[in-house]
Amino acid sequence: MAKVLITARSVAANKEGKAILENAGHEIITHVSDGVKSEAEMIRIIPGMDAVIAGLDEITDKVIEAGVPGLKIIARNGVGYNKVDVEAAARLGIPVTLAPGTNTISVCELVFGLMLSLARVIPGQDAQVRQGSWKRNLGCELYGKVLGVLGTGNIGSEVIKRAHAFGMEIIAFDVWQKPELCQNYNVRYLSLDEVVVKADFLTLHLPVTPDTKCLMNERTLTDMKKNAFIINTARGELVDEKDLYTALKTGTIAGYGADTLTQEPPAPDHPLLTLPNVVLTPHCGAYTEDAVTRCSVTAAQEVVRVLSHQEPKYAVAVKA
Ligand SMILES: NC(=O)c1ccc[n+]([C@@H]2O[C@H](COP(=O)([O-])OP(=O)(O)OC[C@H]3O[C@@H](n4cnc5c(N)ncnc54)[C@H](O)[C@@H]3O)[C@@H](O)[C@H]2O)c1
Repeated sequence: MAKVLITARSVAANKEGKAILENAGHEIITHVSDGVKSEAEMIRIIPGMDAVIAGLDEITDKVIEAGVPGLKIIARNGVGYNKVDVEAAARLGIPVTLAPGTNTISVCELVFGLMLSLARVIPGQDAQVRQGSWKRNLGCELYGKVLGVLGTGNIGSEVIKRAHAFGMEIIAFDVWQKPELCQNYNVRYLSLDEVVVKADFLTLHLPVTPDTKCLMNERTLTDMKKNAFIINTARGELVDEKDLYTALKTGTIAGYGADTLTQEPPAPDHPLLTLPNVVLTPHCGAYTEDAVTRCSVTAAQEVVRVLSHQEPKYAVAVKA
């Protein structure tokens, strides 16, 4: 019987993922806490484990070395692996696996939650009603509006399908264009500057790279329509938050809806928290029962594969 350590809270609480491990005859040891686990904590709990299913915990070279010789797989319950020293794992012959595509729909649906929240002032009106007011805020429809999509990868593509059903006109920017989106959903690929200028709603679905960091800054924000909204479920670093605050405060753009900030959680005095035209969620894009189940199942299946001497399906490729 192999020992599988689960440090990811959502996986530890998920019946389907755990059933896969138990049915394969493995023993589950859970260590979950409110925050992410430090290197010291991981070093304390990893010895003697055959596998770990980890959240955003620190899996440094020292943690991985502490798991040797027993540790055979590090399964992440997501797609990011910046907290895992993949080179150290590769050196020790331990695969690091991911759960790609499991949260795409959940993040995509949150985009529409944020978009409609901004368009119809839902959080603000809810707060007013609770305070005894029946005052209405004049909203706007999504129908007929121009949706600018920056990044037409997994999430951006799903957003496009649903935006088409809302009757939106869709323009997009990506280094890798998908002709099927143009054929099926009338998407027009344009330059970044053209998308920024024309969009009524601009939704961000790019990774953070040196090319995309602070892509939305004083210059690009100033180019936008005054009644435009930005939705950011990707990463806070895509936006210069100081410039964004100024643009929102001075009416350069109409509103911002985000699931992610540069610093998470934000400092209590973060300027964006003071603005009524900002809607924020706590990086919960992937946090649905459905996505958590898909993710837990994928991570558990990877563990079972590796512990039965099969190749994992979604191992991170490490350059030699
Ligand atoms: N809020 C959440 O909980 C949550 C969950 C999952 C993913 N995300 C974030 O959402 C974003 C998109 O995720 P995804 O799964 O759709 O990624 P993806 O890799 O499928 O798509 C990214 C797209 O960006 C394009 N791209 C990359 N660099 C570019 C550049 N310099 N210029 C133009 N285009 C570029 C790629 O060609 C690709 O089409 C990522 O930032 C990811 O971290 C957030």
